[in-house]
Amino acid sequence: MRIDKFLTETGTCSRSEAGKAVRRGEVLINGRAVRSASEQMDPERDLLTFRGEEIVYRKYTYIILNKPEGVVSATEDGDMTVIDLLPEQLQRLSLFPCGRLDKYTVGFVLLTNNGPLSHRLLSPKHHVEKCYRFTARTPLSDEDMERLSAGVDIGGYTTAPCKVEREGESGNYLITLTEGKYHQIKRMLEAVDNRITFLERISFAGIALPPELSRGEWRYLTENEVKMLEDHGKHS
Ligand code: URA
Repeated sequence: MRIDKFLTETGTCSRSEAGKAVRRGEVLINGRAVRSASEQMDPERDLLTFRGEEIVYRKYTYIILNKPEGVVSATEDGDMTVIDLLPEQLQRLSLFPCGRLDKYTVGFVLLTNNGPLSHRLLSPKHHVEKCYRFTARTPLSDEDMERLSAGVDIGGYTTAPCKVEREGESGNYLITLTEGKYHQIKRMLEAVDNRITFLERISFAGIALPPELSRGEWRYLTENEVKMLEDHGKHS
């Protein structure tokens, strides 16, 4: 792989910055200064340092973001998007949200550039669990909760059975879905003559929203978390 490709694919810098850094002697391969950004390297074997920092090659990038309200789960929009919340070097990596949250919904968004894995995680046949916390305008009766968990008609489609629980004494509820229809929870609540007043995704594919991430903050997925996603795609 060309050095400049490696540097742009890892989000280290732009192609033109790569050329400049090489000319300044700031890019080393196995301790030796690189002469040209077009030089080849083996990302699996060679150790590249950029301005003294080791750059680890990752074919794909996985990021967990705590989406704030008012931000759109898209790559481009007139309004602020989840991608706009990332630093510039990550904005170059063609990341996209794996599944959408409504503009008013907050919480867990997975950003990746792994298209095939994202496709598998979103496919209904893989039954990937997504858990949400919500507040309803009026408290739900036991009967409403049973109806929601059995499946309700949201306008020509009956939702699959799901888990609905009260979250302790908080007045909030938890709902775990294995599908993702447009405005699904909002429409489910409307089907039992109620309304959502707050909606937060708190886990995705068994990965919980990290409590240390405030709204608008992000971090890379750990190796373990990436493995959890990959295992989901394989076996379920
Ligand atoms: N259901 C909704 O209604 N909105 C979301 O953002 C996610 C699930």
